[in-house]
Amino acid sequence: MKMLSYWKAILTVINCGIIVVHAADFDDLFQASWAPDHIVVQGAQIALSLDSSTGCVCMQMASEGPNRDELDFEFLGNVSGEPYVVQTNLYVNGTGNREQRHYLWFDPTKDFHTYSFFWNKRAILFLVDDIPIREFPNKEKKGVAYPRSQAMGVHGSLWNADDWATQGGRVKTNWSHSPFVVEFQSLEIDACQLSPDGADDPVVKCGKSGQFWWDKPVVKEVNKQRKRQLKWIRDNFLIYDYCQDVARFTEGMLRECLQR
Ligand SMILES: *[C@@H]1O[C@H](CO)[C@@H](O)[C@H](O)[C@H]1NC(C)=O
Ligand SMILES: *[C@@H]1O[C@H](CO)[C@@H](O)[C@H](O)[C@H]1NC(C)=O
Ligand SMILES: *[C@@H]1O[C@H](CO)[C@@H](O)[C@H](O)[C@H]1NC(C)=O
Repeated sequence: MKMLSYWKAILTVINCGIIVVHAADFDDLFQASWAPDHIVVQGAQIALSLDSSTGCVCMQMASEGPNRDELDFEFLGNVSGEPYVVQTNLYVNGTGNREQRHYLWFDPTKDFHTYSFFWNKRAILFLVDDIPIREFPNKEKKGVAYPRSQAMGVHGSLWNADDWATQGGRVKTNWSHSPFVVEFQSLEIDACQLSPDGADDPVVKCGKSGQFWWDKPVVKEVNKQRKRQLKWIRDNFLIYDYCQDVARFTEGMLRECLQR
């Protein structure tokens, strides 16, 4: 059994409507919030090693506090030779439970790839190598919560999730494969930047319509292409969608699932 022992990724966070950027420097963007002695920063590269183990490598964009907004990419480990799964999730105002799981069309431990979030007022896209794997359209008009007013920062982490991530917790971490390492190659953020002291009001500074290129209407052709790609992904790589999980949401599906 082999867990995610070595993983590489290019993190590109683009086109975000609102994001907190404390510095333009990669080293400063990536700050160890725990175990700083396990983080190695070399120029534009960062390596995170853990002497215990991992079931999950995560990269997320999130605001702070219990009512946070959050967008997640999570890479779930597996038995040697079995496919890694990418789980995406989305929290709005503190509520998540919006998991989707996909296989990838490549082995994510073999090479760097680009994982990105596109976030504007109309929709959120999760992209892998510029191919959208998931879309969360803004349906606020129909009463669906949408992250719009909270600033988000970028975080990366590596942790042991063998109680749930690895084939639903059946496969346990093999500690003899440690240390586990995650390597980020680069990070790009194109966003409306707020001052780190929290003095800016995100809605006042970043909320004006048509202020940024990511808010401009997309050409029809791009939209069509995106729909085709999303369908290709859904037909070939989707393995779990919370909107289909009737057994789990016995009290009723989340609102956006009823709006398709
Ligand atoms: C853990 O990995 C080691 C080294 O590859 C291997 O010898 C051992 O059998 C593995 N243990 C389990 C429980 O799979
Ligand atoms: C967010 O959730 C809190 C309760 O946790 C609620 O009081 C507040 O109105 C919610 N905000 C929005 C924008 O829905
Ligand atoms: C692990 O491999 C099994 C068997 O191929 C597969 O069914 C599963 O989706 C993979 N991923 C996870 C996270 O369990």
